Amino acid sequence: MSAKILLVEDEANMVRTLSRILERAGYEVATAANGKEALEILDREVVDVLITDLNMPVMDGMALLRSMQELVSRPATVVLTGYGTIQSAVDAMKLGASDYLIKPCNPDDLKIVIDRQLELRSLRREVANLKREVQRYQRYGELIGDDPAMQRIYQIIATVSQNKSTVLITGASGTGKELVARTLHAKSPWSRAPFVAVNCGAFTESLLDSQLFGHRRGAFTGAINDQEGVFQAATGGTLFLDEISEIPLGLQGKFLRAIQEREITPLGTTRPVKVDVRLVAASNKDLREQIRRGEFREDLFYRLNVVNIHLPRLAERRGDIPALIDHFITEFSRQYAVAPKHLSPAARDRLIGHDWPGNIRELQNTIERAFAMTTADTIELEDIAPGLPAAPDTRSASPPATDVSSPDASALSPIDEALATDVGMAAESVPPATYDLATVITLEEAERRAISAALRQARGNKNEAARLLHIDRQRLYRKMEKYRLS
Ligand SMILES: Nc1ncnc2c1ncn2[C@@H]1O[C@H](COP(=O)(O)OP(=O)(O)OP(=O)(O)O)[C@@H](O)[C@H]1O
Ligand SMILES: [Mg+2]
Repeated sequence: MSAKILLVEDEANMVRTLSRILERAGYEVATAANGKEALEILDREVVDVLITDLNMPVMDGMALLRSMQELVSRPATVVLTGYGTIQSAVDAMKLGASDYLIKPCNPDDLKIVIDRQLELRSLRREVANLKREVQRYQRYGELIGDDPAMQRIYQIIATVSQNKSTVLITGASGTGKELVARTLHAKSPWSRAPFVAVNCGAFTESLLDSQLFGHRRGAFTGAINDQEGVFQAATGGTLFLDEISEIPLGLQGKFLRAIQEREITPLGTTRPVKVDVRLVAASNKDLREQIRRGEFREDLFYRLNVVNIHLPRLAERRGDIPALIDHFITEFSRQYAVAPKHLSPAARDRLIGHDWPGNIRELQNTIERAFAMTTADTIELEDIAPGLPAAPDTRSASPPATDVSSPDASALSPIDEALATDVGMAAESVPPATYDLATVITLEEAERRAISAALRQARGNKNEAARLLHIDRQRLYRKMEKYRLS
């Protein structure tokens, strides 16, 4: 089918010449003597490219372009203009024309311009089709899952990441709140600026105060150095306040003022400093319930809840479990530097059927545990079952920043326990996992795994990892070099 061109021109001679050229070039041509006639034709027929003169009686080219802006499906538009009136061509392009031709135009130019418009149109259609196809994302950044609830979240992130509005992320433990916060940052125009995370539940009131707002040396007993608060550390980037429900009432007012006035006054100083951060807060508690109990300020809640992203429980999006399983298997195969493991059908059924009260983190820990427990290629039911019927992962109940330093054994994740066994860190209390030599790993391998697990738990922070491992930083560096861990 040949493309349809609508030629809008009041000069009969011009119409005749151009029509002939266009028809000879193989286009189907319709003509109109002014804008009004053109609109009537556009009403009835599908036109691919419209070529219009600017000066015409009844309704001129500009008026036509303006009216065309209301059309749902518009043809590509090329304006015809004289040498002296290039400025009007520019104005026409602002009204949606895609190109212009200077009169008198030669046949070749005419053809080139029209073909370019036709090509652009088909490209645009292709892009629109492609967009429709990828609308159902399998994943977004590091977030896996194509459940409708996740799709909506991806859409919110895509939009909100572009502005600095405050976001409140809610959802049960282990549902991915922190990952969403990180994705918001990663997709934002300031992704190269810092992302600073603070766990509001991990500090006493006065420590949290100086964590957030900073202090001057000597501001209080024990303040031996100046400390920059996280509001300043995150300047230009994203400040993630985790477990926001844990901010003591006494600090909530100060915090609210900081958000409202966009400035803070570090302890021991009098001069306020400007705050320039995107604020993301997260909570796994029902803040409205806390407001009712008088534990959380309502005005602060509304300040934080500008955009709400609520994460569904894993059990509410079971369809995503297989994709998550595959993702974690790939991930741990890489981290443990082993060939990708398979999952026995029984093990897969158990993982898919489980209720996952600890949500994605529990699933992740279960799979990591299997990697720590077996060197075989296939993960069997026995490799995952010991962890599964039990209560949700205890780690998810307590904030990461406290659990790393907590001497409390109940804060150990299954992987930590497994590793503790393997490397003899808690040998007295835990019997050896296995006597089967075929599955026993070497001490070196156990050491490598313990180090990489500690690094992961410390989120790459080497001081923290060294502390977890009860070794000093130097030794950690040597070991990391030895095992090529980065
Ligand atoms: N949609 C997802 N796709 C892939 N991995 C995910 C997804 N959601 C969460 N995870 C992973 O699961 C783990 C737990 O997620 P995260 O720490 O973000 O949860 P959380 O909601 O902040 O939990 P808590 O309330 O206990 O702090 C992380 O390792 C994260 O990378
Ligand atoms: Mg979290």
